[in-house]
Amino acid sequence: MDIKALREERAKWMNWKNIAPMRKALEALPVLDTTVGLGPTVTLQSKDSSPDMQQLEAAAKMMMPWRKGPFELFGLFIDTEWKSDIKYDLLRPYFDLKGKRVADIGCNNGYYLFRMQEDDPALLVGFDPSALYKTQFDLIDRFAKTKIVYELFGVEHLPFYEEKFDTIFCLGVLYHRSDPVAMLKSLYKGLDKQGEVILDTFMIDGEDEICLTPAGSYSKIPNIYFVPTVKALKNWCLRAGFKGFEVLEIMATTAHEQRKTAWMEGQSLEDFLDPDDSSKTVEGYPAPKRIYVKLIKE
Ligand SMILES: C[S@@+](CC[C@H](N)C(=O)[O-])C[C@H]1O[C@@H](n2cnc3c(N)ncnc32)[C@H](O)[C@@H]1O
Repeated sequence: MDIKALREERAKWMNWKNIAPMRKALEALPVLDTTVGLGPTVTLQSKDSSPDMQQLEAAAKMMMPWRKGPFELFGLFIDTEWKSDIKYDLLRPYFDLKGKRVADIGCNNGYYLFRMQEDDPALLVGFDPSALYKTQFDLIDRFAKTKIVYELFGVEHLPFYEEKFDTIFCLGVLYHRSDPVAMLKSLYKGLDKQGEVILDTFMIDGEDEICLTPAGSYSKIPNIYFVPTVKALKNWCLRAGFKGFEVLEIMATTAHEQRKTAWMEGQSLEDFLDPDDSSKTVEGYPAPKRIYVKLIKE
């Protein structure tokens, strides 16, 4: 696969008729001298002059829905659907990125990548084949001016990428893939020797090596293919070639972490669960619960 040609091809996505007006609004914003705060809220503060806040808010609103965050842009708080700081803080004790080549596959608008700068990694690359989320990233990065590389690629392109990585994050992507073992193999191939993957996915309870295969949607999400038990997930990872499989955390998603906000007006977790029994989805499946694992290449 010619990754350079794919990059050039996908750059044209920015001209799509739904994306082009956002790009225009983004490019009309001033480039300011900015300080970036990397706490639970990724915060931009002006060193001298501030942007026109109406213009900034209008540009950010055009880019809705904002799912991952939160961000604060010169006092404008983007209250995203997900409080992604909860996942980041949960995983924080399990990685040290100093001097490492790091990828976040399925990085959305780059929230975790912005936060990972705190470790001073050698390289930070995000993959996400979404023109909208790349545009949200570019809005923040217009001011933050980071060295993060955002690629409009999917996990399936990782084996062909110019770089190999020491640590790959792949969070909230596996259940969207119709061939999860193939996806895990792509992650394996994206690693350098002794590399590691930090991954999360939905799981079901049980001692058997089985998985739930939703008939249509799961938790109203249409593209969820397989929801494994811990043992089934381990088997997938070993079959993909990984030598190490370590369970880091298991946690149910709560309405504190995922909820409707002014920046994401569609349905959210509260609409996805059975109103009479929050241990079940509206389809009658077990409510979303996530497993966080670390996979070791060799
Ligand atoms: C459920 S979100 C997870 C976002 C983030 N990683 C997190 O855990 O909060 C799934 C993300 O995967 C992205 N995505 C879609 N197709 C993909 C693919 N083929 N490879 C990698 N990511 C993909 C979506 O655009 C979306 O940002």
